[in-house]
Amino acid sequence: MCGIIGILGRGPVAEQLVDSLKRLEYRGYDSAGVATLEGNHLERRRAEGKLKNLEKRLRGNPLSGHTGIGHTRWATHGKPTESNAHPHATDSVAVVHNGIIENFRELRAELEQSGASFASETDTEVVAHLVDSYLKNGCSPQEAVKASLPRLRGAFALAFLFKGHDDLMIGARKGSPLAIGHGDGEMYLGSDAIALAPFTDTITYLEDGDWTALTRTIGVIYDSEGAVAHRETLKSGASSLLVDKANYRHFMAKEIHEQPEVVGQTLARYVDVAAERIALPFKLPFDFNEIQRISITACGTASYAGYVGKYWLEQLARVPVELDVASEFRYREAPLRKGDLAIFISQSGETADTLAALRYAKAQGVHTVSVVNVPTSTIARESETVLQTLAGPEIGVASTKAFTCQLMVLASLAVAAGKSRGELSDQDETRLAHSLVEIPRLMAAALATELQIEKLAREIAKSRDVLYLGRGTSFPLALEGALKLKEISYIHAEAYAAGELKHGPIALIDESMPVVVIAPYDRVFEKTVSNMQEVAARGGNLILLTDAEGAAEATVDSLVTIVLPDMAAIFAPMVYAIPVQLLAYHTAVVMGTDVDQPRNLAKSVTVE
Ligand code: AGP
Repeated sequence: MCGIIGILGRGPVAEQLVDSLKRLEYRGYDSAGVATLEGNHLERRRAEGKLKNLEKRLRGNPLSGHTGIGHTRWATHGKPTESNAHPHATDSVAVVHNGIIENFRELRAELEQSGASFASETDTEVVAHLVDSYLKNGCSPQEAVKASLPRLRGAFALAFLFKGHDDLMIGARKGSPLAIGHGDGEMYLGSDAIALAPFTDTITYLEDGDWTALTRTIGVIYDSEGAVAHRETLKSGASSLLVDKANYRHFMAKEIHEQPEVVGQTLARYVDVAAERIALPFKLPFDFNEIQRISITACGTASYAGYVGKYWLEQLARVPVELDVASEFRYREAPLRKGDLAIFISQSGETADTLAALRYAKAQGVHTVSVVNVPTSTIARESETVLQTLAGPEIGVASTKAFTCQLMVLASLAVAAGKSRGELSDQDETRLAHSLVEIPRLMAAALATELQIEKLAREIAKSRDVLYLGRGTSFPLALEGALKLKEISYIHAEAYAAGELKHGPIALIDESMPVVVIAPYDRVFEKTVSNMQEVAARGGNLILLTDAEGAAEATVDSLVTIVLPDMAAIFAPMVYAIPVQLLAYHTAVVMGTDVDQPRNLAKSVTVE
């Protein structure tokens, strides 16, 4: 992920911008840059690599402007070169960006048609030229940004400077975080409270769809409809913590809402977003054509990510996959063939059961790949290959953003495997990669169901038991949903493959048993509707997570339906995980449990 900072200062800001970027380096450091207003024109200093290169550039060619923006980059579009470093600019506008603009190619073609000339390969530069085109048509900076935002598809945070406007900075947020910092005669924009901590702890977080026009003394916020919006201003704790809860009540809530951004960053590490093809960051030390069997081993939520990965690898790469919970893998003495592949999934990279399973597999001479969130962890260090999730620090004991980032890695790997085994054509790869590129935006859209889910949670909180059902890749997500609910609300929950209901669990159904059905409209949807009718016929309270087509087709009584955006059903678990997580979270809040540190649990189980 990238880091953004902007300052409307009372003195020269270049040094402050760099100071803030240093606190954002955890978000990425492929390149960095600043832009300031120098008199009546925009000046930039950018450098490839670490921040010290930018500092050197500034020492040699200083900037004295009192209005500036800065950016530290994790490359998504285009190599981490100086020409691709942010800020991107025209003569009249400079912009820094965190996130992904999905439709940048169409916009670029349109702008080039109208005479714009581009100096980089990035999606961000398109934003600068789009805003510039409105300025050239006589729009004010505010009007130009307001007209441009609806034309951008994707998840992004932006900060703008304008030539001739040294008391104006504009910011916009859709899917990636952005906050206003309130100073004494100064105003700031930043990716998070950490970026703003050197200047202020008085923070206003923008909400999805918001944009803001700031001067040194006031900040006006507009919502996605263009109406003036009032957002809470609070005191952050970022100066002490490297990670803070921002304006969320719990870390888990923050981490659920971070998913569009961090899944987008993980996507960008494994998918060439511009070319819409899989681009693993390095050559794997094995050839998928020689792999006859894959084993996937993990614990808890990570094992459910692995279960979804099993479906994807088998469907897309046609390779048999065995799934084990790590605590069983070693003791059942799983027979492994030298040269096969064993995948280990772990957020912490320190789970004892998973580490023991890794060591067992290595002793059998198989290739080992670990999917971890902590690249310096023991599991990472002992694996032959590490595919890192870029979820950032996950503080809530209940795993959320790590889970969906694990899914993004596994989806990318499954497409890569299918392509290299000749099971997927170039067209298949482009189609699947395009579907993956849409995921961050779809996750942001899924977050819009939160109010409906919060209301539903008040009903679920009255239950003693809850059942989750799903078919295909929705079945492992049902398992994850049941785990999420029980581990933070302490309400008993179970999950079944929907087709299994009639083989016993249906005996549980009565009016006191809520049944959560996870079912995007896909080839098995009709069968799931039959299962829902069996539940409704026995007075069960159905809750259906589906899309518009599913909602129209599911003619069943006593139904609460959460409608999610239309999408490629194969990758639905990454988006349907959002309502599943939100339901568990809000139920736990109603129950008054310790959401971030539930009883009896630990974030990393380092004992067997
Ligand atoms: C997730 O919500 C749970 N807290 C737990 O199941 C966790 O997923 C499991 O302990 C594995 O942890 P790891 O991913 O760090 O290996």
